[in-house]
Amino acid sequence: MKNDSVIDDPAPLQTSYRPSSFVDRESEREQINQIQENQLRNLFLHGPRGTGKTHLLLDHIEKLPSSINTCYIPCRRCSTQYQALKQIYQSVTGENPGDGHHTAKLQREIQDRTTDVETLIVLDDVDFLLSNDGDSLLYKLSRTNPENLSIVIISSQTTDLSQRLEERTYSSLQPSRIGFEPYSAGETYQVLGKRARDSLKPETLHRNALTYIASTTQNISKGLTWLKTSAKNTEDRITEESVRQTQRQAYQDYVSQQLRYFTQHHRLLHQAIEELEEEHGTPINTGKIYDRYQELCKSESVSNRRLSDFLKDLELLDLVEAKYHYGGRKGKTREIKSSSF
Ligand SMILES: Nc1ncnc2c1ncn2[C@@H]1O[C@H](COP(=O)(O)OP(=O)(O)O)[C@@H](O)[C@H]1O
Ligand SMILES: [Mg+2]
Repeated sequence: MKNDSVIDDPAPLQTSYRPSSFVDRESEREQINQIQENQLRNLFLHGPRGTGKTHLLLDHIEKLPSSINTCYIPCRRCSTQYQALKQIYQSVTGENPGDGHHTAKLQREIQDRTTDVETLIVLDDVDFLLSNDGDSLLYKLSRTNPENLSIVIISSQTTDLSQRLEERTYSSLQPSRIGFEPYSAGETYQVLGKRARDSLKPETLHRNALTYIASTTQNISKGLTWLKTSAKNTEDRITEESVRQTQRQAYQDYVSQQLRYFTQHHRLLHQAIEELEEEHGTPINTGKIYDRYQELCKSESVSNRRLSDFLKDLELLDLVEAKYHYGGRKGKTREIKSSSF
């Protein structure tokens, strides 16, 4: 393992780091501000991963006065109505609800505590919630103190929320929509270049290296991970050659980061897909994947039914692409292909 000699400050290369200067996205920022100016009630933010949606929303929350109740829910970690309600309860009351409360009781408490207080609830990566009982949560929230409560829904998967929600839920929410366009290679270069300058020692990043990364992926989270992996594996200068060499390793680092809050079974499932792809190419059918997972799993394995849900999670994280086939002898089948940079 080489030392971190080209890194001066590792923080700016973390994806969770929020630099004070954000490149562009001015109109999106202004639209988000309109919630607190009471011009907009509910918002739906959508766009591919790594386009700054979460970052902008967290910036917005941070600047709000403390008189406003704010609740940020990362749905990949709170993917059921009950988990989300507990989190909202905790934010609006400042108390830990503990276990064993009934959903209806949590809802009543939240209703009572938000009656006269301006409240903002953000549901980030909402698709994880919507694959469970999220629709019901959204419906109820949309009817809770609508004069005071605003909901921001963020998705990297869904572009048309009206297609994803029950009609009554959508019409009760009536969210204004903000689409985040993907960055161009030039914009990606600019954003990554700024982070690299804040993190790396001067003259340690070759321009061609950054051009190569920015033309390969416009997902800033992927780009940052790639830069970090390259920096860690370089002693003097990050060149195009060195980023090409670390491409595979960097993608593995990105996958681990994305799966951080998921189970060991998710990781084994992903490993199974990668192994099978390497041996047989793509696409792979799910039966083979589940068999390989069984071979890899040293501890107690989970049922194919659970694995199918976990595979869906990998899909929602954009780590794999699935193609569905209907009909035929086996009914509905899925073919899987993994993503890359
Ligand atoms: N315009 C920008 N300027 C600076 N950093 C950005 C910009 N857009 C995205 N980023 C950075 O890219 C990473 C991914 O952003 P994030 O908000 O998590 O994306 P999303 O939620 O759309 O997946 C974060 O580290 C964020 O700081
Ligand atoms: Mg996000």
